[in-house]
Amino acid sequence: MCGIVGYIGEEQSAPILIEGLQKLEYRGYDSAGVAIYSNDGIIVKKFKGRLAVLEEHLNKNRISGTLGIGHTRWATHGEPNDINAHPHSSYGGNIAVVHNGIIENYMKLKEWLTSVGTEFITETDTEVIAHLVEYYYEGDLIEAVQKAVHRMEGAYAIGVICKHQPDMLVAVRKDSPLVVGIGQGENFIASDIPALLKYTRDVYFLEDGEMAVLTKEHIDIFNELGMPMERSVFKVTWDLESAEKGGYEHFMLKEMHEQPKAVRDTLMPRLDDTNRIVLNELSLTPEQLKKFNKIVMIACGTAWHAGLVGKAAIERFARIPVEVEIASEFRYRDPFVDENTLLIAISQSGETADTLAALREAKARGAHIMTITNVVGSRISREAQDVFYTWAGPEIAVASTKAYITQVVALYLLGLFMAELKGVMSRDEVATMVEELITMPDKIQHILDHQETIQETANKQLNQDHAFYIGRGLDDYTAREGSLKLKEISYVHSEAIAAGELKHGTIALLEEGTLVVAMATQERLYDKMLSNMKEVKARGAYVVAVTKESLKKEVEQSADIVLSIPNSSDILTPILSVVPLQLFAYYMAVARGADVDKPKNLAKSVTVE
Ligand code: AGP
Repeated sequence: MCGIVGYIGEEQSAPILIEGLQKLEYRGYDSAGVAIYSNDGIIVKKFKGRLAVLEEHLNKNRISGTLGIGHTRWATHGEPNDINAHPHSSYGGNIAVVHNGIIENYMKLKEWLTSVGTEFITETDTEVIAHLVEYYYEGDLIEAVQKAVHRMEGAYAIGVICKHQPDMLVAVRKDSPLVVGIGQGENFIASDIPALLKYTRDVYFLEDGEMAVLTKEHIDIFNELGMPMERSVFKVTWDLESAEKGGYEHFMLKEMHEQPKAVRDTLMPRLDDTNRIVLNELSLTPEQLKKFNKIVMIACGTAWHAGLVGKAAIERFARIPVEVEIASEFRYRDPFVDENTLLIAISQSGETADTLAALREAKARGAHIMTITNVVGSRISREAQDVFYTWAGPEIAVASTKAYITQVVALYLLGLFMAELKGVMSRDEVATMVEELITMPDKIQHILDHQETIQETANKQLNQDHAFYIGRGLDDYTAREGSLKLKEISYVHSEAIAAGELKHGTIALLEEGTLVVAMATQERLYDKMLSNMKEVKARGAYVVAVTKESLKKEVEQSADIVLSIPNSSDILTPILSVVPLQLFAYYMAVARGADVDKPKNLAKSVTVE
């Protein structure tokens, strides 16, 4: 999604804005621009395409100025072109605005502004903000922004500068992330922390409806009613290196290699000296936990796949019914949720608009809200009553890998914790599972250390136009995740289907050489899987099978190539079986020359509906 950076201080703002925007490139964008306060007024430069185009232009045509705002746009209203790129200027040229989110009532505002003589030059919703602020501007930028914001509906994070107030940068947020960076004699705004880390680790998170007014020396925060607010400083503990490639060709490759550590970091602090699960971070009392008669999980994309695995684990361990629903569907469905429901919102970013809206819907119906998220201080973490952090570290690649694996681990921990609490599993049974969980990082490492066959297979299959992923039980869920990984980064059309469903339609699509990735890791079901693999092979499919070492020999007979993973009990296998699928998708994308970390049309966190 779009990225915002803003600077006010003593330094030249252009390079700081560009550098900040570079750190946000992972969010996905199609144009970039800056507005800089200079001796000649506010100068706006913006271009379609990569940030490098803007950077090159600014290198050749320097703009001097120590106040500025910058933006990378991911088009929603209006095609990606120079005109629709941000920042947007007001009709009088006095105001420049950058905006993330969507102004839902922009058509109404546009009609009204047009009726009072304003000419629009872009197709964007953002342009109305610039005109509104100018319309209300009578010498006080803060007041003008407040009045403008009162008329806006929807989601927004905005940065505003004014030609007549070179000592001020104003920012407001509602349902769209925005952090304020606290410097020495300089201050910043950004839509995500990596943009600020070179300059500061001290940040303020704005709450919904709040406005930050930045000068070189001060930051004032006001609530929706214009009342000054106190805010405590949040210290970012991770460093820029963890948000940089560190020698790997792509963030995705680096993040896959970080998975053993991410699993360890998520798991180990939650075990005491005797390996008993301790979830001190939860406010829920054992009595409350026992009271829930149902768990509902809401999530999108990869996080939804983690929820599916979590459902199987929690139902198996704790014998509590679990529903898993795509957040964008849940929010409009009039769902059965009440005070006896534990709602778990799973979100790497903690900012996904649909997940946030679904969470609010469930909260309004009385459910207890827990989130599993990777981003401390994110919107969802602040709205949930209980937060279970995955300690995966910053995930930059659009394709989620280490966050997924840690979400799955978090759900296993939760399931086992509840199982013991409810007396469904004995202390010893839980301990056996925990002991196995502890071995997982080394097993993931083993897969990462033996990835040659996966890469070779991907290289051989690079010309495929379609792929089908099949599996049963837990393998079905992992297959869905593998299929999503493949399509999102390599652009190979891919479908995941429960293996037993194949013959009810999809098998009609198989031809000589069609790629079928068959997951056969579940001992309980692998006989059935072998039959499905034979079915597809008989129709000419090229079968890449994923299985456990212990099943390899038999699986080999029904596959063209076998990618094996270390042995583990069926229920925990999804932690391992996803890794070859991630690597396969990665190497396919690389072989096909795709932009692995920034796939087209996608954004890292989807902060619009
Ligand atoms: C993952 O590879 C995807 N890019 C995407 O499906 C993602 O998982 C989804 O948008 C949810 O994001 P979240 O976890 O930040 O809420």
